[in-house]
Amino acid sequence: MGMLDGKVAVITGASGSIGTAACEVFAREGATVVGTDLRAGDAPVDYFIECDLTNEEEVARLYRTVAERSGKIDILFNNAGIALPADQSVLDTDLEAWNKVVEVNMTSVFLCCKHGIPYLIENGGGSVVNTASLVASVGSAASQIAYTASKGGVLALSRELGVEFAKRGVRVNAISPGPVETPLLADLFDPSEKSRRLVHVPRGRFGAPHEIAEAVAFLSSDRASYINATDFKVDGGIHAAYVTALDE
Ligand SMILES: NC(=O)c1ccc[n+]([C@@H]2O[C@H](COP(=O)([O-])OP(=O)(O)OC[C@H]3O[C@@H](n4cnc5c(N)ncnc54)[C@H](O)[C@@H]3O)[C@@H](O)[C@H]2O)c1
Repeated sequence: MGMLDGKVAVITGASGSIGTAACEVFAREGATVVGTDLRAGDAPVDYFIECDLTNEEEVARLYRTVAERSGKIDILFNNAGIALPADQSVLDTDLEAWNKVVEVNMTSVFLCCKHGIPYLIENGGGSVVNTASLVASVGSAASQIAYTASKGGVLALSRELGVEFAKRGVRVNAISPGPVETPLLADLFDPSEKSRRLVHVPRGRFGAPHEIAEAVAFLSSDRASYINATDFKVDGGIHAAYVTALDE
């Protein structure tokens, strides 16, 4: 018996690394998986709906279509996001890069919650997991200022919604991954940038997409029924580290 049997889940960024892993884990756990992204990818979904999450009309249509086709919505995993090379120190980042990152990473989560949560309420409750990041709560001298600010916004928004909707049966949590071995990360970090970060990881390696996906599946399930409005860190312990162990 799967942890998500009978649940209808909408996963954004489904064609990306973590999104694809989430579709795999959610399907394994018995959910009806609806994937959405700018373009379809290889994720195992029950059906896919193309959507630009920065467009309010498209987002409203997305959830309306799922509710009509599947009869209900139980779970939102708002995972889509971007990191841009032009997003760096506050001294160097132009307004165009700032606006783009904030729009895709934070405004899209606002729109998905605005148009998705009413279906959860209508169905008697449900779970929302929004993807923040470790940098929402831990500073980095190798700055991506718009990314950090956008993820901080996701964290605050998620906390507030978790409190607002708790008595209507809707749990809203943020997940904060540390660095995950994905193309998004490989494009951003050269070997020296990578090793600069790895010294802070107690586990000695970055995370894998399925390790994030497993945590999201748990948070989305009824097994996590008393976990709400939290910042669920999946980072191998980075947030708690002062000095990490030497290699044996
Ligand atoms: N990879 C990491 O190290 C890491 C660490 C912490 C947090 N995160 C977050 O995890 C999430 C997933 O990251 P990933 O590594 O799988 O990235 P990814 O680039 O592989 O996937 C992101 C997906 O979002 C989609 N997307 C972008 N803009 C969109 C839009 N306007 N409308 C619809 N879809 C859009 C992309 O097409 C892509 O498929 C992101 O929110 C990212 O910020 C990633």
